[in-house]
Amino acid sequence: MLGLITAAFAAQAASPTFYRDVLPLLQNHCQECHRPGEVAPMPFVTYEQVRPWAKAIRTAVSTGKMPPWFADPCCGKFENDRSLSAGEKETLMNWAASGAAAGDPRDAPPPRAWTERWNLPSRPDQILSMPKAFQVPAKGAVEYQYFIVPTGFKEDRWVKAAEVRPSERAVVHHAVVYIREPGSTWTRGPTKADILAIYSPGSAPDVSPSGMAKLVKAGSDLVIEIHYTPSGKAVADRTQVAMTFAPWPPIKRVLTLQMDNSTFRIPQGARDYRVTVWGTLPNDALLLGFFPHMHLRGKSFEYTRIRDDGQPETLLKVAPYDFYWQLSYRLAHPLPLKKGTRLEWIGTFDNSANNARNPDPTAEVRYGHQSWEEMMIGFFDVAVDPDVDKNAFFAR
Ligand code: HEC
Repeated sequence: MLGLITAAFAAQAASPTFYRDVLPLLQNHCQECHRPGEVAPMPFVTYEQVRPWAKAIRTAVSTGKMPPWFADPCCGKFENDRSLSAGEKETLMNWAASGAAAGDPRDAPPPRAWTERWNLPSRPDQILSMPKAFQVPAKGAVEYQYFIVPTGFKEDRWVKAAEVRPSERAVVHHAVVYIREPGSTWTRGPTKADILAIYSPGSAPDVSPSGMAKLVKAGSDLVIEIHYTPSGKAVADRTQVAMTFAPWPPIKRVLTLQMDNSTFRIPQGARDYRVTVWGTLPNDALLLGFFPHMHLRGKSFEYTRIRDDGQPETLLKVAPYDFYWQLSYRLAHPLPLKKGTRLEWIGTFDNSANNARNPDPTAEVRYGHQSWEEMMIGFFDVAVDPDVDKNAFFAR
């Protein structure tokens, strides 16, 4: 009896079908990008759409190219980990190798209820747009642009999830949405304003854990900083921000913080140049997740803390770092950190000719906004008491 069951399972695993075995995996790991209107060029929703890609899927999955996910399995567990388990990989690969059968449509899972065109976990409560479209030229370097978007909020809003969406994805290198509180006159450049959300290609919506949210005070404006990178064709972009609100008040307030190094000089040709930054936490906080940012010479990015026993611990190691996939990594289990905890981020850069993306291996490289310059920023989210803002958090 037992033998028979095993044999039946083996037969099923050997020849997976689209509707029964493959579609559920595509829904959970791929459709976020592979559906109409999303970043991936081809949708993977119906059998007809997926069938021609069976071989390519086998290759992309076996090499780890897809789905994009760069956290070294050495360290940390992440709630938004979209990678496939060994068994799931095998199912996709066996399906492609065994003739990519359709199977019985009655085995299909219900279609995934995507909330219209947004990837937010539920329908947006508010959608805000840039006041007017920005004309992105066909070529040349465009300075960072800052767009002021009044929220019109008559009362304080706790934002549980936010998603940023350019209308012309191909020219948006990244966008940062700042919350400008009433009374602030800041319009551009460096700021201490809190960050509502960050967009970069392949990024998912920013979703806070249950009971936690970001505060947007009544009368605030959003300031959207956008780095446009012309693509050869002049286009007009009008980026939007969608959000869902949390019940009021939440148990914890979420703040996005950063530690960065802007004084490095990466020697020409250096293969593995290390840039670090460290600091101590000004107050107790619950660590929620990370978003590392570097440019084309970025090779790896590591977040570490010194534990109570004095030992360093790697919280996240992004390796390889891929400029074209800037992702956020949300801890599966938020980590309470004590005031005074030493945090250290370590970035490595490859400025050699070995790095196929290197714009110029003969240049010494310093901090700068443009892609041929470099950055080393480790953003991280923490949760604090609802009445603590960034100023209060940094008061030691
Ligand atoms: C975060 C977004 C994202 C997710 C998730 C994602 N893809 Fe992709 N995929 C892309 C983009 C964008 C491209 C085209 C650019 C490229 O090849 O990098 C692509 C390309 C591909 C290709 C073509 C590769 C090639 O070399 O031509 C295949 C096959 C593929 N994806 C399969 C998958 C499968 C299977 C999954 C899920 C297990 C998946 N992708 C998940 C964004 C995604």
